[in-house]
Amino acid sequence: MTMFGEREAQILSTWHKNVDCWTEAVRQQQIESRRLVTDEAVVAAVLSCQPQTVLDLGCGEGWLTRSLTRQGLSVLGVDGVEGLVAQAEALDGGEFLAMDYEAIVAGGLQRRFDVVVCNFSLFGEASVAQLLGAVPGLLNPGGSLVIQTLHPKSACGDGTYEDGWREGSWDGFSEAFVDPAPWYFRTVESWVLLLRRSGFGKVEQQVPRYPLDGAAASLILMASAA
Ligand SMILES: C[S@@+](CC[C@H](N)C(=O)[O-])C[C@H]1O[C@@H](n2cnc3c(N)ncnc32)[C@H](O)[C@@H]1O
Repeated sequence: MTMFGEREAQILSTWHKNVDCWTEAVRQQQIESRRLVTDEAVVAAVLSCQPQTVLDLGCGEGWLTRSLTRQGLSVLGVDGVEGLVAQAEALDGGEFLAMDYEAIVAGGLQRRFDVVVCNFSLFGEASVAQLLGAVPGLLNPGGSLVIQTLHPKSACGDGTYEDGWREGSWDGFSEAFVDPAPWYFRTVESWVLLLRRSGFGKVEQQVPRYPLDGAAASLILMASAA
């Protein structure tokens, strides 16, 4: 168990168990929302900040790090799952490091970047709050944090629209995925408040939408240090 508690530890242990199927799902473009909308949206959001250096936090098998590296940026991808980092290192493009959020909060990453990006990589309660509190210390002056997450209004489903732990599910993914972890639901308002408490001033919201029906595919939050 980590200092963040059992549910938080379950999040990381789930990713350890699903390295191969996750890598396959991303590299074979099995996730429709990514293929149609969210991959392009997060790349555009990062590039709109005109950074030279980027930290891809919770980089997984590394697609975003590679994509931004191909655009000429200097990108470090960091993930807490060694197996995913090994998958990332097996392909060309970018620099990778195995380190979990707890270690980052403890000051394990002594570098600064123009942009820190978290693409669908923030699932916990205290772990995320503490990580975001540490992000201003990872940013160069004038730097930005870019978060892409499930849109709270659609991710809420039939549940009440209020913060709280939700049961995990691999619905929509292949049967190879095991042990879905619980995740902490945050409303849009709660994300914004958390960012302000973490030392960010301006918080901009974008809602990438499906081209056909205009439904929200995700929420992107772009925050600059106060
Ligand atoms: C849904 S995947 C997204 C991966 C990648 N950002 C992408 O867009 O494909 C979530 C990632 O967050 C990472 N992650 C979750 N909790 C973490 C933690 N506490 N420390 C480090 N990485 C973590 C997982 O290992 C996993 O790679």
